[in-house]
Amino acid sequence: MDSSSFLAFLSSRASVREFAPDPVDEAGIEAILRAARTAPSAGNREAWDVVVVTDPEVREALADAALSQPHVREAPCVLVVAANYVRSMSRYGERGILFALEDATIACTYMMLAAHAAGLQSCWTGAFDEEEVREILDLPAHAKPVALLAVGRGRVPAGRTERMELAEHVHRDRW
Ligand SMILES: Cc1cc2nc3c(=O)[nH]c(=O)nc-3n(C[C@H](O)[C@H](O)[C@H](O)COP(=O)(O)O)c2cc1C
Repeated sequence: MDSSSFLAFLSSRASVREFAPDPVDEAGIEAILRAARTAPSAGNREAWDVVVVTDPEVREALADAALSQPHVREAPCVLVVAANYVRSMSRYGERGILFALEDATIACTYMMLAAHAAGLQSCWTGAFDEEEVREILDLPAHAKPVALLAVGRGRVPAGRTERMELAEHVHRDRW
């Protein structure tokens, strides 16, 4: 893939918040998870975990924990991505907290893009009550949930969002 095709691929992804009920098949889920495994991580510690949620009752509970955002209930699959502090802190101490958060968000990004490559739609969902999510999923204390990635087939076409100009982000040599 050349760089313009890669940019076109990235640009063609957009968040979708209305999903059809059809389940994501196991092969699709597996493809997304395998992509996450290729993500870079600090010291190759792979300090991330994911809970694959397809059970409607658990999705319902997660939606409640996510400020009642309906797409979390509607999406047939919700990938709850967590930073695994133990895996990273056992080598890096306090710095491992940041590394684990980075590892988890990179892994989630790879999952989001893999879903897109598979012709699925998704919505990264960060607004949720951490304690509620922890309780619903029985997360251990060393796992910090960072994102609920709602995945499925969109019912409506993805809407394009604007971006700031590059010049607003980019600094050269000094800020
Ligand atoms: C860290 C993070 C948290 C987000 N949380 C939410 C959320 O709670 N609910 C939601 O509908 N979208 C959420 N989004 C999706 C963003 O709103 C979306 O990515 C952004 O508006 C750009 O649109 P696009 O994904 O279509 O390019 C989140 C995205 C990120 C990266």
